[in-house]
Amino acid sequence: MKILTAYFSHAGENYFDGKIIAVKEGNTSIVAKKIAAMTGSALYEIARATPYPYSYAECVKEAKEEFIRNSRPELKENVSVKDYDVVILAYPNWCGTMPMAVFTFLESGNFAGKKILPVCTNEGSRMGRSEGDIKALCPEAEVVDGLPISGGLAREADEKITYYLKSHGIPVKEN
Ligand SMILES: Cc1cc2nc3c(=O)[nH]c(=O)nc-3n(C[C@H](O)[C@H](O)[C@H](O)COP(=O)(O)O)c2cc1C
Repeated sequence: MKILTAYFSHAGENYFDGKIIAVKEGNTSIVAKKIAAMTGSALYEIARATPYPYSYAECVKEAKEEFIRNSRPELKENVSVKDYDVVILAYPNWCGTMPMAVFTFLESGNFAGKKILPVCTNEGSRMGRSEGDIKALCPEAEVVDGLPISGGLAREADEKITYYLKSHGIPVKEN
């Protein structure tokens, strides 16, 4: 079984437990790297060609504008999903769904026959509308129920992730 962990994450300022703090690594990046280590999968970062602003307020403003326009921002680097059977797709909940750069990623590849496992870090909206949006973008993929993770608990999510992956038939390396 060939697995790709594809993730989007935003380092810099983020809203965390009611206050704005600056982080070197985003919550979803922490989760995605755990998943890649647990599964031995390939790891690909879905990054916008023009990075999102460092400032939380500016980032939210741009994210909202992109969401309202339903835009498909250009990506920094493209990856082919052709050789993979399973795509573990990790992203933060932005505006109730995935960042629009993740829409670009899903629209630019052929996901027919692939299994997609959505993993969404969030501050309360859990998966939001993201699972439905992934199904609409990849109608010929098998999109399983997603795993919501509270952003602030990303570092402590190992057990939850292991249980989720195993319950979807993904082999997990034991430490
Ligand atoms: C632009 C933006 C929009 C967001 N919208 C939501 C939202 O609608 N619902 C929610 O629960 N969290 C929302 N959040 C919080 C993030 O989902 C949460 O902090 C996530 O863990 C960030 O992941 P990252 O550090 O990997 O980027 C938003 C954050 C940003 C920056």
